[in-house]
Amino acid sequence: MYDNNPTIPDLNKPLEESKQGEVFFKDQPVVNEDGKKFYIESYGCQMNFSDSEIVASILAESGFAPTRIMEESDLILINTCSIREKAEQRVRQRLREFDKIKKEKPGTLVGVLGCMAERLKTKFLEEEKLVDMVVGPDAYRDLPKLVAEAEGGQKGVNVFLSREETYAEISPLRLSSNGVSGFISIMRGCDNMCSFCVVPYTRGRERSRNLFSIIAEATELLENGFKEVTLLGQNVDSYKWENPETKEVVNFANLLEAVAKVSPEMRVRFSTSHPKDITDEVIHTIAAYENICNYIHLPVQSGNSRVLKLMNRTYDADWYRERVESIYRIIPDCAISSDIIAGFCTETEEEHRESVEMVKWAKFTYSYTFYYSERPGTLAARKYEDDIPLKVKKRRLQEIVDMQREVSYEQNQKDLGKTYKVLIEGNSKKSKDQFKGRNSQNKMIVFSKKGDCKPGDYVMVKVNEITSATLKGEIVS
Ligand code: 5AD
Ligand code: SF4
Repeated sequence: MYDNNPTIPDLNKPLEESKQGEVFFKDQPVVNEDGKKFYIESYGCQMNFSDSEIVASILAESGFAPTRIMEESDLILINTCSIREKAEQRVRQRLREFDKIKKEKPGTLVGVLGCMAERLKTKFLEEEKLVDMVVGPDAYRDLPKLVAEAEGGQKGVNVFLSREETYAEISPLRLSSNGVSGFISIMRGCDNMCSFCVVPYTRGRERSRNLFSIIAEATELLENGFKEVTLLGQNVDSYKWENPETKEVVNFANLLEAVAKVSPEMRVRFSTSHPKDITDEVIHTIAAYENICNYIHLPVQSGNSRVLKLMNRTYDADWYRERVESIYRIIPDCAISSDIIAGFCTETEEEHRESVEMVKWAKFTYSYTFYYSERPGTLAARKYEDDIPLKVKKRRLQEIVDMQREVSYEQNQKDLGKTYKVLIEGNSKKSKDQFKGRNSQNKMIVFSKKGDCKPGDYVMVKVNEITSATLKGEIVS
């Protein structure tokens, strides 16, 4: 999807590359045959995919039915990402394709949602004349009204960023889900101001969602047969919610514990953690509950302290190493993955080597690697020159990817012969005779079907074959 990232899928955490831009309502029945139909595509991070489920819920409430066939829809929505330039280019290309449908079926409305809508605001309507609606991440409740206005020929924009909106009581329409794992958004926005990042501008100030609404959503998922929840936020470790009645303050460790207690049968994952905020209390909470997965996505961004300072990450390489050591000390079999940016402004070859070395030292099971893409309006765009030539950025990126592949292979080798508790997610891509599922460490394992086990079941799988990317095994009980 993103050319700047030739081998690794994009963004915060395991969204497979194939999922980027995936039509949301794949293989799902239309819920309201009489109503108008909408079609939605999502790009970017898991948060965006989760937001599309909220959008779907809001539209379904107002009588729209989802469809996976773009040509038969009355409303085409694209939930966009601004994180790198390539992501935006891809969206513009899709909008050209939507134009054709608008010409063939006049009256079809096109709406741009999410981060690009927020970043470009009314400029979008000027640049992309055939777009009918521009709706930012905090304005989705306004969609039915904006659609009605657009039907009357009036183009609509709402890019108001809220300090309160968490869509707390909206139950997402989980039509794209595998029925086993679901996302729960626990907070919105970001107050971190990393110098490379556009998110604080597109998603606004950080705010945490009501604890009880999160627990209610997890319980609802459990009642609907789900076995895994992933708690989502740009920076989950700074989750903080005050109970208005008791004045008790709930932090992320408290929240994790409360969600883990919903059912020991339901796995809990979370993303993304920030190295400056992840506390020992959180790590101990993960260790204390079998159903909180031993996996932390802890983006380092760079292995060099000077670059980290320029990135405004507010920690240095030693701090990061100390956090990693604490994680391995408290949870010895914990898996850690990372995001790394290659070729940030002024990065030297030696500083780049420190990023490569960090992959090895920290034993990341996976890294999401990107080369630096300057984003308009960010601190880095204003303060530093984007001075590393593209060729050099790409070469550095490849060196990180190569190191990660080596480290992943070494780690996977250690899995040979080990037996893991795996939650079955569905058929493997290659064969209907095989299932795929993940262990607590978030590693995907493929294995032959046996007995009457089905998606949503836990099975013990012994690993007997590995590559740098996959584990294969067999059910042993
Ligand atoms: N250029 C390249 N990568 C970026 N990321 C965020 N902003 C940029 C940018 N301007 C990466 C970071 C972040 C991940 C979601 O995307 O590594 O953790
Ligand atoms: Fe998600 Fe917005 Fe970031 Fe893209 S820019 S990854 S949509 S938060």
